[in-house]
Amino acid sequence: MKLYTIIIIALSLLLFSCSDVVSTDESISVEQNLNTDSLAIENKEIQNMELIDERDDHTLSNYDEVSSRHLHLDIEVKFDTKTIVGSVTHTIENLTGSDHVIFDTKALNISKVELNDGKEAQFKMGEVDELLGTPLVVSIDENTTKVTIYYETTEKTEALDWLIPSQTAGKEQPFMYTQGQSIFTRSWIPLQGTVALRITYSAKVKVPKNLMAVMSASNPVHKNDEGIYEFNMPQPIPCYLLALAVGDLEFAPIDQRTGVYTEPSMLASCVYELGDMGTMVNEAEKLYGAYQWERFDVIVLPPSFPFGGMENPRLTFATPTIIAGDRSLVSLIAHELAHSWSGNLVTNSSWNDFWLNEGFTVYFERRIMEAIYGKDYTDMLALLGYQDLLETLETATPDMQRLKLQLKSQHPDDGMTDIAYEKGYFFLRLLEEQVGRDNFDAFLMEYFDSHKFQTITTEKFLVYLNEKLIVPRNIDLNIEEWVYEPGLPENCPKVVSKNFNAVDANMVQFYETNDISKLIDTDKWSTHEWLHFIRNLKAETTVEQMTMLDDAFHFTQSGNSEIAAIWFQRSINIGYDKIDKELKAFLMKIGRRKFLMPLYTALAATPEGKEKAIAIFKEARPNYHYVSYNSINQLLGVNF
Ligand code: BES
Ligand code: ZN
Repeated sequence: MKLYTIIIIALSLLLFSCSDVVSTDESISVEQNLNTDSLAIENKEIQNMELIDERDDHTLSNYDEVSSRHLHLDIEVKFDTKTIVGSVTHTIENLTGSDHVIFDTKALNISKVELNDGKEAQFKMGEVDELLGTPLVVSIDENTTKVTIYYETTEKTEALDWLIPSQTAGKEQPFMYTQGQSIFTRSWIPLQGTVALRITYSAKVKVPKNLMAVMSASNPVHKNDEGIYEFNMPQPIPCYLLALAVGDLEFAPIDQRTGVYTEPSMLASCVYELGDMGTMVNEAEKLYGAYQWERFDVIVLPPSFPFGGMENPRLTFATPTIIAGDRSLVSLIAHELAHSWSGNLVTNSSWNDFWLNEGFTVYFERRIMEAIYGKDYTDMLALLGYQDLLETLETATPDMQRLKLQLKSQHPDDGMTDIAYEKGYFFLRLLEEQVGRDNFDAFLMEYFDSHKFQTITTEKFLVYLNEKLIVPRNIDLNIEEWVYEPGLPENCPKVVSKNFNAVDANMVQFYETNDISKLIDTDKWSTHEWLHFIRNLKAETTVEQMTMLDDAFHFTQSGNSEIAAIWFQRSINIGYDKIDKELKAFLMKIGRRKFLMPLYTALAATPEGKEKAIAIFKEARPNYHYVSYNSINQLLGVNF
């Protein structure tokens, strides 16, 4: 009998004998009750069973003894000192009668702690852990239901990006935003920084009078005269989804439940670019059930934002680099929207199960894109994803090539590779192909519904999958290899894109004849065809050929960030240096890590290039969020 089968049977017996419907609270204790010793299985299997008998490795809190259920923030965002100052009140549930509650903090100053209605509490800061921060231990008794912590952030905060006016579109007002995923929320709020808990929250946020605050919660649509904004998030969320942005913001609706926040000078172009958002939500609902978060709005941030998008519930945070003018990069919005189901509604129960968030989301994203823009379009997205996956497989260590990760003692963001996204996607696509789209859709619809507002481990998902799809059909899909082994199993689905086949044929002609006029129909190419073309330029392409291409298609000047970034990367590889001015301008302005890392990596491949990279980075560093500059520091071996 295969290892996978043994695990599934053992787990099925255990889980389904405990409870049919596993609520969030119960799921914690069910997992803890899984005693590996009691399972009469061989050593090899026990190793894998230990994978599920896990507590979240990325918290120092005692969330499994005393759980925070709700938090209320009462804070002021102070641009003069670049700090957040105020208090957080946790409503707690003491599950074990513990005499203390532990919160995660990182680089925070705690001044006072109070219990219930103002009684001052004993507290102490524990030992500092470089990765996880400093535990805050508060003495409580059996009557404690509320713990209020007075605190302020410091300049070492990892979550916050404070921008001076020149770093914004309007150039007149400062801006601040937070990034919580994966373990950064503890650096702006003392809380139990685990993904295993879900909390509701409310907040009162004071900001300078001419600015507006928005959160991953109910949001204002106008500035108010006092500069005080109140928020409520009634649906329970994991704390990495707590988010705040403050700036000179304006709102415009797209349809009745979607809209855009951004700086006034960007509003019109963002409204145009994101015009399909309403349709996306409707199509997503048709696929996998009702949208559970009331509104779906997007805030388009200044260019330092380190990600393409971040699925903060009700208010996705997005990079301005998707505003291409032709709506060609909006699959990113479909992706963040899809997280409203996979990730925000059904959440990975630790960062080791990150693929459950991202792989499902890429799958769902492509289904939304297919529903709106058709199969040919989506085949291009999937094939670009496949190429990303192959590239990642070439460089990632075997440990990082598994869907199920082991990230103990590592930063969870290290697990954020194309393995989770694209290997995860292809695994789900394989399931779809094997059981048929209708059956797979029905399965996913039920999966989201039966696990909503809960967290889930890979193993629990596999039990569910096995019961609902695999056993009834008696099929063998090598699931164990997909989930627990490095590499890409042989039964990985093949993607064919007829649009890309046409690009490939052109490419052959171009290299055979060295004649640019042999590239035909390029006026009909979309962003994705260009991306495919540029990324597949041969390593031996000459500088003359690069010049020919640039003269004809003006890639160096492209206003499309994806095209510019891949063109710069190829140019660096090939030694085409007419990009230098534009490359530097790009690196100075844009803080999106996905673009920065390949560009700095390409530069650092030669000693002169590395010198250039370090010089640019030194200058550009204030324009990057911690997430990005920390990665580039590591890449270049510097510490700016
Ligand atoms: N949730 C992620 C961003 C993230 C992952 C932040 C891990 C921190 C740790 C978000 O949904 C995402 O995947 N963004 C992608 C875009 C997407 C279209 C692949 C990005 O930012 O590039
Ligand atoms: Zn994502």
